[in-house]
Amino acid sequence: MNPSVAQRIAALRAEIEKHSYQYYVLDSPRIPDAEYDRLFRELQQLEAQHPEFATPDSPTLRVGGKILDGFAPVRHAVPMLSIRTETDISDQGAHAFDTRVRKELGLSENDPPVEYACELKFDGLAINLRYEQGVLVQAATRGDGETGEDVTQNIRTIHQIPLRLAGCDAPVLEVRGEIYMSRRDFERYNERQREQGLPTLVNPRNGAAGSIRQLDPALAARRPLSFFAYGLGEVRGWALPSTHSGVLEALRGTGMPVSDELEAVHGAQGLVEFHRRIAAKRDSLPFDIDGVVYKVNSLALQAQMGFVSREPRWAVAHKFPAEEQMTVVRDIDIQVGRTGKLTPVAKLEPVFVGGTTVSNATLHNEDETRRKDVRIGDTVIVRRAGDVIPEVVGVVLDLRPANTGEPFNLYQRLGGKCPVCGSAIMREEGEANWRCTGGLFCPAQRKEALLHFAGRRALDIEGLGDKLVEQLVDQQLVQTPADLYHLELSVLSDLERMGDKSANNLLEAIARSRQTTLARFIYALGIRNVGEATAKDLARHFGSLVNLMAADEARLQQVPDVGPVVAQCITAFFAEPHNCAVIANLRASGINWTEQAGERLAVLPLSGKTFVLTGTLASMSRDEAKALLEELGAKVAGSVSKKTDYVVAGAEAGSKLDKARELNVAVLDEQQFTQILKQQESA
Ligand code: IVH
Repeated sequence: MNPSVAQRIAALRAEIEKHSYQYYVLDSPRIPDAEYDRLFRELQQLEAQHPEFATPDSPTLRVGGKILDGFAPVRHAVPMLSIRTETDISDQGAHAFDTRVRKELGLSENDPPVEYACELKFDGLAINLRYEQGVLVQAATRGDGETGEDVTQNIRTIHQIPLRLAGCDAPVLEVRGEIYMSRRDFERYNERQREQGLPTLVNPRNGAAGSIRQLDPALAARRPLSFFAYGLGEVRGWALPSTHSGVLEALRGTGMPVSDELEAVHGAQGLVEFHRRIAAKRDSLPFDIDGVVYKVNSLALQAQMGFVSREPRWAVAHKFPAEEQMTVVRDIDIQVGRTGKLTPVAKLEPVFVGGTTVSNATLHNEDETRRKDVRIGDTVIVRRAGDVIPEVVGVVLDLRPANTGEPFNLYQRLGGKCPVCGSAIMREEGEANWRCTGGLFCPAQRKEALLHFAGRRALDIEGLGDKLVEQLVDQQLVQTPADLYHLELSVLSDLERMGDKSANNLLEAIARSRQTTLARFIYALGIRNVGEATAKDLARHFGSLVNLMAADEARLQQVPDVGPVVAQCITAFFAEPHNCAVIANLRASGINWTEQAGERLAVLPLSGKTFVLTGTLASMSRDEAKALLEELGAKVAGSVSKKTDYVVAGAEAGSKLDKARELNVAVLDEQQFTQILKQQESA
């Protein structure tokens, strides 16, 4: 035996547990993660070299032990009771409980109000933690209340649960409480699963219960769980406080997580106020609760009252509106996000859930919609908890009508086009989301595109921030970045928080941005997966925008760090006529950079594109225009359809222009058109 090793091991364990408590319970780490990891690895190493010093309270056991065949039964020393539920969610529920308690205690109207401990009703899984001489020796589920399952290994992976109690070496102290998954951990876990196309958890409660009953503790360790203590089981040799709230405070002192929402109140009015106060903050809590719990605070009175059929007479759960409800899917819409992400959204028969009426719920993405196999007409379970967007958690297949359609197919559903702007949609390899490719043009992406365009590393338009972009877009003063270059002083100075001086400054900044570099311009376009570094590489490699726009995926991949996904994003961007029209507009507005050898003005690839001419052109006849276009490889059609790439609108353009707008086809005016022709000729 080597006493110094034993001492070092003990010191490391204490140090690690102290930091674990700071980090996981108090949420305020005192040392950097790397330092914590170093201590942890040192302990692991020493324990591996000295198995004789193994103890059940070592933090190294938190990473999960060997895979089990099943869970051993555990007979509870003190049965785990359940709690009576007051389903009347109005104030009446609290009054009814107080009336019952007073009657049981034989109190008359003239007796003083009863003191109650009020707590949250956590929505997770009940657990009994058995500490002997202050060390966690066993953790068991509730089971049928008499016999539960031994889940000690999995419980040890929960960092919030102390492996050793601080300042307590009682022969036996059983702590009871709830294992739960916080909303943030639940969202994060599901987000990661969705990205990888893996099944998601239905709700945090199932997440907690599933992890605890997971036979591989290493898998359990990967699902982040939390814990709150709310009571006791068997106790030997521990000085019991006289009230329930005193018990919880004492437990908090041993390092047990105890919720801050714990209050001792008097009488029915106190209960009502607590219920109201918590209901008002329910959404902003970091975890799900399904109600509050009232307990007679005095342990002596609790003992006097006893219980009936496994439910104590001294406690009640007073519910809140349920966070999950069933309803019917009327339709499935597809929403376009600020970055072009396409999200399927279920349009629901309105339903009251989690305290509000919900008529839309997210389906997240195509894969998830298909995995859950949600179809129009289905009855589904909708969940709304906290500030999170309501979501469809699953289909009640037993209630599926005979006439529901096919499994969901996002591309088919949209005919391959963005529902907002009509640009082509794409889904990159390995990506869970479909996206609109009309980044510069799509109204849904306007604000984001403008902010990016004006950003410091892009065209660097000083003063064009969030608030301003919001106003410019909402008042329809700016639709695409090209419109920035046609803003006038009088319009700008009328905007909120804009005097003449700021308006002037902004105009100057916009004017200055006309002179830029090719790399900045490419970056400013906001092509997906083209960051600043890639934009520089592209500028260096191709030397000109013309060359970049004409490059196919194979040529793009010759650029350092450009792989198939980036190449695909670039070609998709330039294949979208709307984007090319905005680029032509920007160039026509005087955006310029020091040209490299061979650089010409931006050219639209005309070959294979379909044009429609409408209205009268001042500079040429329609036949001349047609001939010029055909010479350059374009097709000229007589009417506007979804297949049209560009409509050239001269003076007095009529129904074809309307049709183009209706179908979201790119429209060029005469000036833009002649400029493009000139560029083509000189290219
Ligand atoms: S006390 C003697 N307090 O609700 C009463 N239970 O049937 C024993 N629960 O699944 C329970 N929050 O896990 C109590 N603050 C709280 C609670 C709580 C949630 C759960 C408990 C059990 C059910 C009660």
